[in-house]
Amino acid sequence: MSLYAIGDLHLHFNSRVWAESQLNDPVWKDHELKFVENCNKLLNDDDTLVLVGDHSWGKKPEQCEADLDYIRRLPGRKILTRGNHDKFWDVNKTEALNEKYQPELNFLQNNYMTYKDYALIGSKGYTFEGPFYLNREGVIIGWDEEKELHANGLINRESRRLVKAFEMAEADGFSKFIMFLHYPPTNILEESSIFTQIAERYDVKEVVYAHCHGHERFHDSILGEFRGRNYRLVSGDYLNWVPEKILD
Ligand SMILES: [Fe+2]
Ligand SMILES: [Fe+2]
Repeated sequence: MSLYAIGDLHLHFNSRVWAESQLNDPVWKDHELKFVENCNKLLNDDDTLVLVGDHSWGKKPEQCEADLDYIRRLPGRKILTRGNHDKFWDVNKTEALNEKYQPELNFLQNNYMTYKDYALIGSKGYTFEGPFYLNREGVIIGWDEEKELHANGLINRESRRLVKAFEMAEADGFSKFIMFLHYPPTNILEESSIFTQIAERYDVKEVVYAHCHGHERFHDSILGEFRGRNYRLVSGDYLNWVPEKILD
């Protein structure tokens, strides 16, 4: 019995949207086949797999159905969190999704789930991703402040959602936590953020995030040990489509 995580499957069985980077990077070629094969080799029925967002390229719910069915057929218990591309998932309709896809798929948002004596807390998170302005030497000398202001609003909202979920789990007696974000907890300028502070406040053991694609983005945020917790990037292309074991 183990807990695994991966993110950013970016499935497209019913949609024709593709990111340019996915067409050019061989890691994305037949990635849905590679991923199923790896899951079948690695996962048992009593394992839990957390998929941390960007499940589907579909823009409408009906364009995501085949993608969710694909996830449904993977071995083990599946828990999903929201990514920035998951247009099928209205945050206020999470309960309806949970009703529709139970028992195979579990949508983690404004609630918490459990693994052994851990509470699993998840939300999309957010971080300001620019645009940043560089000088000729490639040093950042400024950024779009209006976009930063907008980002700060989203960061505050996401942090409130996370705290609420931690409070719910705490009220039910949980004191051990794993935190799942879609966005990295910090951006390229930050050493810490409201999300690292929340992880510290609740003594989170593992912080798991995705969203960063391609070699030039894999080191955008914290990797490994930082102020007493472990940070893991689990975007599918970073893991080459092998789910990462988080806990035994
Ligand atoms: Fe993504
Ligand atoms: Fe993303």
